[in-house]
Amino acid sequence: MKGIYAPLLLSTILVASCGQPDQPEPETPTSPASTAPASTGPSAAMISDGRAIAEANCASCHAIGTTGDSPRTDAPAFRVIMRDVNPEALSDDFREGIHVGATDMPDFDLGPRGTDAIVEYLKSIQVSVPAERQ
Ligand code: HEC
Repeated sequence: MKGIYAPLLLSTILVASCGQPDQPEPETPTSPASTAPASTGPSAAMISDGRAIAEANCASCHAIGTTGDSPRTDAPAFRVIMRDVNPEALSDDFREGIHVGATDMPDFDLGPRGTDAIVEYLKSIQVSVPAERQ
C-alpha cells in the first residue's frame, strides 16, 4: 500500500515542471466545480467543507494547508499524510469509528458526508495529487 502514489507523484512533478508558458492552456482546471464532469471526483464545495472540518477539528495539531509545520511536531502535515495512510482505509476508519492516529488524537464522528469531505480535502492538497484531480 505504501508507495501507491509514487507514480502519480512523479507524473504530478512532470506535469508541474513541464508547463509551457508561451502556450496558453484554456482548460487549466483552476475551477474544478465548473470544469470537472459531475461523475469524476468531488465537488469544490465538498473540498471546501473538508477544509472547514480540518480547520475546526484538526488544525490544533496538524498543519492542514499546503505550507507550514504542524503545531504538534509529532502530527504529520496533512499535505503529506497520504504517504502514511491510504484514502480508502482512512475513510473506512473515520466512517466506522476506528481510532486514527496517536492514542491522544481525539476520535471524530464526522458522519458519512463529513468523512467524504475531509478525505477529499486531504486528497486535494497532497503533494502527490491523485491523477483524477489534475
Ligand atoms: C490532539 C491533536 C490531534 C488532533 C486534534 C488531530 N490529530 Fe491527527 N494525529 C495526531 C498525531 C500526534 C498523529 C501522529 C500519530 C501517529 O502516527 O502515531 C496524528 C496522525 C493522524 C493521521 C495519520 C494516521 C496514521 O495511521 O498514520 C491522520 C490521517 C490524521 N491524524 C488525521 C486527522 C484528522 C482528519 C483530524 C481532524 C478531524 C485530526 N487528525 C486531528 C494528533 C491530532
